[in-house]
Order: sequence, then structure tokens, then C-alpha cells
Amino acid sequence: MTNLIETVLLDTCPSDLVQADRVHTSLYTDAKLFDEELDKIFYKTWIWVAHASEIPDNGSYKSTYIGKQPVIVVRDRKKDVHVLLNRCRHRGATVCEHKKGKTNSFVCPYHGWSYALDGSLRGVPHPESYADCLDKGDLPLVSLRVEQYNGMIFATFNDQIEPLVDFLGPARKWIDLFMKQGAGYPVKVSGEHRFRFPGNWKIQLENTTDAYHFPLVHKSFLSSVDEQTLELFDFVQGPGYVEDLGNGHSVMVMIPDLVDLEANLDLPIPERFEALAQELRNEGHEELEVRRIVRAVGGSGFNLNLFPNVACSMAFFRVLQPIAVDETEIHHAVITMDGGPAVANRYRLRLHEHFQGPMGFGTPDDSEAWERVQKGANAGKDLWIMLNRGLAGEKPSDDGLISDVSAETGMRAGYQQWKKMMAVPAAKQGE
Ligand code: FES
Repeated sequence: MTNLIETVLLDTCPSDLVQADRVHTSLYTDAKLFDEELDKIFYKTWIWVAHASEIPDNGSYKSTYIGKQPVIVVRDRKKDVHVLLNRCRHRGATVCEHKKGKTNSFVCPYHGWSYALDGSLRGVPHPESYADCLDKGDLPLVSLRVEQYNGMIFATFNDQIEPLVDFLGPARKWIDLFMKQGAGYPVKVSGEHRFRFPGNWKIQLENTTDAYHFPLVHKSFLSSVDEQTLELFDFVQGPGYVEDLGNGHSVMVMIPDLVDLEANLDLPIPERFEALAQELRNEGHEELEVRRIVRAVGGSGFNLNLFPNVACSMAFFRVLQPIAVDETEIHHAVITMDGGPAVANRYRLRLHEHFQGPMGFGTPDDSEAWERVQKGANAGKDLWIMLNRGLAGEKPSDDGLISDVSAETGMRAGYQQWKKMMAVPAAKQGE
């Protein structure tokens, strides 16, 4: 009988599961690999934890996760940012269960140990029973290494890792371009949608630079917009491109005219923003300012994927949190202009809801596709996931590798970084 499914003989090395043009299905389905990914990727590299606007004041904090480990991102009295393990040093309870807020300290609800904003252990109820066997200096909340770039806060468990600016490399210039959505005002996170889908985290990671799916999966969205917008989003065969930026990062430029939001401000204002422009004029904004704000409201014409857990995607941050091999939580954080015109920020929020919201015309369809990939991956466990689209036309660029907009270059970039990190024995990483 003919064997319908090509059987591959794999040894135990995960790096064999990633080839130049494909990855093995077990990357979506193997629970042991998932645990290994937490150790070798999420607990070894820089992980995005917050945007600076989420913790604006002294004492502002948000709670989140790095891999499966709960952490608190907090700004102390001197405005320094700390990322602390959310785990009491007494018997392990989390010291903060709120998603965000403002505080002077973190007090463990179990026996009342209290910690300062920098994590130091400040007080212990009824200390007399410890006599001299408790040194508070030995038991702070564990503090991670933290670095920031243009408002993006990253943390790592790995003291030996390269500086954040080196890790980001050429991706920095894309972060700078993305932040032009402030239109001269500081960029501010103004809320987020959270949802989970029953699929592996890498399925979502792939999607951010996948132009190929857009006309099909997003038919509902495309049927809900005006002719001009429809034309704008008809980019699969357009002049855009995907670029591998190194270290697993990549960018997909869908609309080259909207890469630099401050360039060519004299181009006509799209019909869908004419009412906004008029309102801004009525509020007394100069014409150049009106054009700058309107352009920013529409969002950047590219998606930037920062390996492994955050994307700057057109007009929002998409953050992914691995829950299990077949479950992932997504946060879609909308960004607005801090102190900018209320009417412009309202437009941003409505645009965000239109595509990314729970009742939106975009994300629910994406989520359905991701779920189907996970479901299908349970069939034919020895098969491979193909990632060879655009490989033939891929060329070296100043920053890495470049190909047409619907190429799977961004996915290949992420998987090559995965391969590199997973090939290193856990004890040697960061040395
Ligand atoms: Fe936190 Fe006991 S577990 S004070």
C-alpha cells in the first residue's frame, strides 16, 4: 500500500523541525516543545511587557505575564520602571491581582508582607517570632532586567542577553515610524480587547506579516468599507514588501505611501476622513496640523512583528501570551494621541473597534482561521507546514532579506530565530 503521508525520521533536536521553507506540524501540537519554548525563548529573550503610557505616574502599575510567570510592571517614586515577579517571598502568593492601578506598595493578602514599589520587602506583621532569622534585605520581590525603547518596555530573565537596542536592531527605525501616530502628541494606550483562541501562539505570530490571507479572510471587512478604502487594502499584488529584520523581527509594508505618516502631507484627504478634517478645522487647527492628525488617525501602512510576543500593527499593539500548546491569549491595545483632539481619538477608537473589536469585521475572522489551523494540525502529525511563498524572489536588503508583500519571509524570519534559540542547550543560553 502506498504511504500517503511522508513519514519523517526526526531525532530529538527541535532545530530539525525547522527547515528553510517549512516547519514541522509538531511545533503547533507538541506539549513538550511548548514547555521547552517557555524555557528557551520566553525566559531567555527580551519580552515586551508594557507601553510607557500604561504606567504614567509614580505608583502606576499593570500586571501581566512573561510566558506563564505573573509579573508586575511598576513605576516607582523616582519614575524608574521595575518589572517584578508577582510572587510573595513568604509562601508564594501573588501580591497583585488587579490588571492595572496606582498604589504605594504591594501587600500580600495571605499574611500581610508588604513590598515597596521597587520590590524591596518593607514590613512583616508580627516579626518577633522570626527573632533574628529573617533578613528583609534577602527577600525582595524578584526584579527582572528592564530596558525601554521609544516607550516600549521590555523585560528579561536573562542577565547575559544583549542590550535591547541591539536586540531590536533595524526594527528600531520601524518603531520610530510607528510612533508617528501620535501626530506630535505622545502615543497613549487607551484600553484593550483581550481574547483567547484555541491555537498555538506561533499561528498568531505568523499572521501579523501574512498579507496572503487578507482578501479572503477579511472579505467581511472589505465589504464594510467605502470604494477608496477597498482600493487601499487591495495590496496583495501591490508594491509593498516583507522584510526580515534579523533576530526574528520582520515588517510587512502593505501601503508604502503610509510608511512615514509625516511625508507627503499634501496628498488628498481620503473621503472617509473629510468630516474629521472639517471638525478639526472648525476647532481652529491649522491645515498642516489637520492633515497630520488625519493621517495619523488612519494608522501606519505596515505591520511590525517583534519576536516573540508583540506587533505594532497598523494602529494598535498586538500582544500574545502563550497559555498552552493549543491556547493563546491576545491583547489588542488601541493607541491614541495623549492630549490630542477628542474627535480624532474617537475616530481612532471606532476604527479599532471596526476591525479589532469583539464585534469587529476583522479579528473574529482571523481567529476562526487560526483555530482551524490548530484543528487541522491534529490530522497527519508527520506533515509539514509550508512557508515557501516568495522564497524564490527573496533578496538581500540593507537590513536582512526582502521579498514581495505576500511572501512568507516574516514567518521564515521568526522560525529561524526559533530554531536558533531552541537549538541551544538551556543551561548555555545567554552565556
Ligand atoms: Fe505572602 Fe504569606 S504568602 S505573606
